[in-house]
Amino acid sequence: ASGPLADTHGRVARDLRVSLTDRCNLRCHYCMPPEGLPWLEKAETLDDAETIRLVTLAVRELGVDEVRFTGGEPLLRRGLEDVVAATAALTTATGGRVRTSLTTNGIGLARRAAGLAAAGLGRINVSLDSLRPERFAAITRRDRHADVLAGLRAAQEAGLTPVKVNTVLLRGVNDDEAADLLGWALREGYRLRFIEQMPLDPHGTWQRADMITGADIHDRLVAGGYRLTPLPGRGSSPAEGFAVEGPAGPGGSTLRGEVGLIASVTAPFCGDCDRTRLTADGQVRTCLFSTTETDLRDALRGGADDAELAARWRRAMWGKLPGHDIDDPAFLHPTRPMSSIGG
Ligand code: GTP
Ligand code: 5AD
Ligand code: SF4
Repeated sequence: ASGPLADTHGRVARDLRVSLTDRCNLRCHYCMPPEGLPWLEKAETLDDAETIRLVTLAVRELGVDEVRFTGGEPLLRRGLEDVVAATAALTTATGGRVRTSLTTNGIGLARRAAGLAAAGLGRINVSLDSLRPERFAAITRRDRHADVLAGLRAAQEAGLTPVKVNTVLLRGVNDDEAADLLGWALREGYRLRFIEQMPLDPHGTWQRADMITGADIHDRLVAGGYRLTPLPGRGSSPAEGFAVEGPAGPGGSTLRGEVGLIASVTAPFCGDCDRTRLTADGQVRTCLFSTTETDLRDALRGGADDAELAARWRRAMWGKLPGHDIDDPAFLHPTRPMSSIGG
């Protein structure tokens, strides 16, 4: 067989998310327990050459045209710049067809943004759930708010744009900050997206009724004086985009820009999903919520050639389920934690 990563529901995966490590230097309550998780051993993790081989295969043989690096925290991966550079070289080799991006918590980004841009990285998404340092520390269990802000600025200055900010709103924790966060992002020139919390928390205590929904967020922004107009052309993006116009500020100037709502729970976008995922230990996941994976690492280490690896990857994606069942009482939490899937 040849061709792209198609499934039986008419979708084609062109967007590859590569998790480069399962480790993280924050401990966000909704993602990780305070003590961390049983990390992958080094030998279990794909090395840089293995990672580059699989990314190259995906781009050259499987029709992937967007490669996003995730974690855990991808800045903790020593070879990140080398992997980015090898992927960016594919961009040149394909006449610009391949785009590259990174999803990070921003810690250490201030020092590395320029180098990542020089390595050929396209753009960056940074997670930030609060503008208040004490709150940030309470949510992440680490006092690193200033590092994230510095990382954001460095990404902007390095031209890794549009710089997007990902915010998960949690009831009674930071849900009063929606309008403040938006005002800040519009002033700074970042593109803010609010994310509904998915049932992927480490202790399985997520309750649908506690979740701040996309509709709640919309209401809060309107109550904060913003006007939102839906933008067309969403494509396969998880975010629904809105043009946004702010309340008149001091001096009568009005903030304008865009905001995104990622409503994975109340408005699933699975029908338009174009994703395939590779974990740091070389397993293909067809979906964030998959309960099964397909091995490429042991096959690769056992001497499989590109044709065989490509066939495995295609076979895995052919079996991609139509969507997640978060609303089914029998919903099964993936056995791999969210942090090691890469969001
Ligand atoms: P852009 O290309 O910049 O739009 O990136 P992205 O939004 O696809 O990626 P990012 O890593 O910034 O993820 C933002 C949020 O979307 C995170 O909460 C992810 O968990 C979530 N997300 C990303 N991909 C999927 C997906 O395939 N399904 C679901 N349900 N959520 C996803
Ligand atoms: N639900 C929604 N988003 C989540 N993220 C982490 N855990 C969850 C969850 N349970 C977000 C992070 C980061 C992105 C990669 O995924 O905040 O912005
Ligand atoms: Fe795609 Fe699965 Fe995410 Fe749905 S939940 S959009 S099928 S990866």
